[in-house]
Amino acid sequence: MTNILAIETSCDETSIAIIKNGCEVLSNVVSSQIKQHQKYGGVVPELASRMHTEIIHTLLQSVVDSKEALKNIDAIAVTYGPGLEGSLLIGLTLAKTLAYVLKLPLIGVNHLIGHIYANFLEQTPPPFPFICLIVSGGHTQLVLVRDHLKFELIGTTRDDSAGEAFDKIAKFLGLAYPGGPEIEKMAIEGNPLAYNLPIALKNEGFDFSFSGLKTACIQKINLMKKENQEINLADFTASFQKTVTDTLLLKTKKALDYFKINNLALAGGVIANSYLRNAFQKEFSSPQYNLTMPKIKYTTDNSAMIGSAGYYYLKNNIIADFNLKVEPNLKIC
Ligand code: KG4
Ligand code: ZN
Repeated sequence: MTNILAIETSCDETSIAIIKNGCEVLSNVVSSQIKQHQKYGGVVPELASRMHTEIIHTLLQSVVDSKEALKNIDAIAVTYGPGLEGSLLIGLTLAKTLAYVLKLPLIGVNHLIGHIYANFLEQTPPPFPFICLIVSGGHTQLVLVRDHLKFELIGTTRDDSAGEAFDKIAKFLGLAYPGGPEIEKMAIEGNPLAYNLPIALKNEGFDFSFSGLKTACIQKINLMKKENQEINLADFTASFQKTVTDTLLLKTKKALDYFKINNLALAGGVIANSYLRNAFQKEFSSPQYNLTMPKIKYTTDNSAMIGSAGYYYLKNNIIADFNLKVEPNLKIC
């Protein structure tokens, strides 16, 4: 039995978890700062680090409530990148302190690898090899996962991530931050076929581009305003959501075909979107495919996924030392 205490502070969620054997969530607390950032329309880095500092020890107390509980921990895993530098530092400092005082191995986990390992929590994990589509606030990537911790980057966005597109369009439409859940709510009653929006790089490889979609949305809305046309926000957000989903489906299908792989996993905050989940389920429903999605609560930032990844780092003897530094621009490979 291996218990990992995991810490995640890369952006605007502070989270601490204890994960057994890489899959069982013994505890997982997440404190979101969204309400504090909402009034600024996005994450304010300085505020984010201050808020991590204010809450992190309370979270630690709620997860390890006794000296006895600490005795059952075998390693400390922590996100060291990518993310906001000041925010990452709070988690890393706590992790180093705990590892030093408790004389436990320190494991530095790549946040994106953590997102992939959300698929290993409390469910049957995807069989190897699989292709993972990561769609978060900062990244949109297709990754070929040959085995534990063996990654090949197949495709990435050339500009904005899909999550960023959700957030920017929501902001433009006057919706709250983060835009993804707001757009999803607004789109429920909408007609996804009402507006015709562009899919970028349709006939090119496995890379994505979402800045053109953002510009097309803004231009369309501005034109409708100028011509005094009524804008149906439910229809517009539904069409936007469908276009992002269709783009992701198209590139994912292409990658699976090209690499002749039938196992697919999804990861990242945007995978919380029910329209997207349903669309992927429908597209890959035939028995030929094996689709794995994390439980919704493990799609957005959390430390349980860091604990799962940390378990496999530990098994592969990938242990950090106290020189470990935060890497805000860390890549998956
Ligand atoms: O993975 P994540 O929690 O943080 C990063 O690592 O970036 O992803 C956050 C992103 C934000 O862009 C947010 O708008 C988006 O995930 N998101 C959603 C939904 N929930 C979160 N996008 C679409 N629909 C959702 N329900
Ligand atoms: Zn994330």
